[in-house]
Amino acid sequence: MTIPMAQPVLGEAEEQAVLEVLRSGRLSLGPRVPEFERAFAEWLGARHASAVSSGTAALHLALRAVGVSEGDEVVTSPFSFVASANAILYERATPVFADIDPVTLNLDPDAAAAAITGRTRALLPVHIFGYPADVPALEAHGLPIVEDACEALGAVHADGVKVGARGHPATFAFYANKQLTTGEGGMLTLGSAEHKERVDSERNQGRAPDMDWLDHDRLGFNYRLTDLACALGLAQLERLDEMLADRAKVAGWYREALAGSEVGLPCPDADGNVRGWFVFVVQVPRERDRVIGALRDRGVPSKPYLPAIHLMSFYRERFGHREGEFPVCEDVAARSIALPFFPRMTEGQVAQVAEALLTAL
Ligand SMILES: Cc1ncc(COP(=O)(O)O)c(C=O)c1O
Repeated sequence: MTIPMAQPVLGEAEEQAVLEVLRSGRLSLGPRVPEFERAFAEWLGARHASAVSSGTAALHLALRAVGVSEGDEVVTSPFSFVASANAILYERATPVFADIDPVTLNLDPDAAAAAITGRTRALLPVHIFGYPADVPALEAHGLPIVEDACEALGAVHADGVKVGARGHPATFAFYANKQLTTGEGGMLTLGSAEHKERVDSERNQGRAPDMDWLDHDRLGFNYRLTDLACALGLAQLERLDEMLADRAKVAGWYREALAGSEVGLPCPDADGNVRGWFVFVVQVPRERDRVIGALRDRGVPSKPYLPAIHLMSFYRERFGHREGEFPVCEDVAARSIALPFFPRMTEGQVAQVAEALLTAL
């Protein structure tokens, strides 16, 4: 039996929630949007939350909220999904990459510090694969921080604060493989009421809350999330703790099945940091692409995840990036494989993947 790469947990609660919205006729700009925002903020412990159409939209609005604009530099991780760097370019600012920590795979605070210049307007750490980035270390620079928490719902910092609840604008994504899904969608958590007002306006074509429909007092976008999606999100939020626990359980099975092998495993939780499990990514010692092919031959899908952003053709051509600039990132990116991973994965499926991987090696 072929194993899926990812699979959302959807049931009657989700069906009912979406049907209710369909029957109400209020498909957008209705009551489910603020309900989902409030429930999400409460679950996380964030002051404010704004629902948007994607994690990428959340990143764009977050960077605008902290004042990133043309000519600015934003220090960020090259080991991320491309959207975290692209969003910086949307504002004609420059992503300045700094290398990652070889254990956590997150932005190395020392490398980030060395990359700061007089033009640095913000820092954009990514909580990659759901492991908390060292945001407290970055806070020491006194620069605005935007957190890419798109993979990190459920993660907790060493001081007990959930990732995304420190007060910096933080972004979440709800694509179908994420810890919580609305099909497509995103959330931006915020610590300041002014940021919330600006984001809510800019996601809705720059319209102020008290304005007539066709009056706009600033540049805006259509980054709205529908009531259908928010209803789905509310139903998913009800089962989020359970889904997160199931993901952690599956990760535990993988860890046991691959223990003692030459496969590099995701770093275990350390110093009080807690990972919010999103993907199970391993590093193989050699021949990554052949291993992916061998897995495919045995009905096991897998992905080279993640490629280094600075070595993607667009970034090479635009900025002249070359191999060797960020050696830790490049080494990890060349050896990483995302394995099938989802909350209802069985122990038998995990054993099948692990066996296929060890045989391939
Ligand atoms: C680290 C990271 N940043 C940003 C995004 C963008 O989110 P979306 O696909 O919802 O635009 C993702 C989504 O996969 C991600 O993993």
